[in-house]
Amino acid sequence: MEETSKTQVPAEPTPDVEITVTSPEQMRELGRRLAKLLRAGDLVMLSGELGAGKTTLTRGLGEGLGVRGAVTSPTFVIARVHPSLGDGPPLVHVDAYRLSGGLDEMEDLDLDVSLPDSVVVVEWGEGKVEELTDDRLQVVIHRAVGDTTDEVRHVTLTGIGERWAAVDLSVLAA
Ligand SMILES: Nc1ncnc2c1ncn2[C@@H]1O[C@H](COP(=O)(O)OP(=O)(O)OP(=O)(O)O)[C@@H](O)[C@H]1O
Ligand SMILES: [Mg+2]
Repeated sequence: MEETSKTQVPAEPTPDVEITVTSPEQMRELGRRLAKLLRAGDLVMLSGELGAGKTTLTRGLGEGLGVRGAVTSPTFVIARVHPSLGDGPPLVHVDAYRLSGGLDEMEDLDLDVSLPDSVVVVEWGEGKVEELTDDRLQVVIHRAVGDTTDEVRHVTLTGIGERWAAVDLSVLAA
């Protein structure tokens, strides 16, 4: 007999690609390559513990997108806008750590750019930005257990929603 009383827990989406990087420079390079797949309106959500390399990856994204200004940890600001040096989209780098609500709270920040016209990268966005978008690229950076001094990082990328359905993220692993 079928068990019908159990609540179905939705499965976590399966990562499209898993990449091992072995240095900060490789993380940056991954960001530069990922940037080539991004366009205005994209949301990239970065997860991983303190010092995992989220900002390092974002630095590479900024270089790949060709935006102005060095990408740094947005410690005392919630979001920083990096305008394009060419005709590409600006990069909006968000540290959602102190964002109590969702991305809609950012409307109060007077950012000077519209999010649909930008590439938006959010650190610490878990539980805050998912509801607001159907499409997002989820990037999780983690260290293997015990790797505390090591420079090895495991990066998983999962495209969620229609935007990412036809994008082959495995090119990043090549
Ligand atoms: N493979 C690696 N990739 C990225 N960073 C690395 C790697 N190996 C060592 N590091 C170091 O780890 C640190 C990562 O810092 P970064 O600010 O990018 O992390 P973060 O995830 O943004 O942290 P926070 O949660 O504080 O925002 C840097 O000092 C970097 O040099
Ligand atoms: Mg950071």
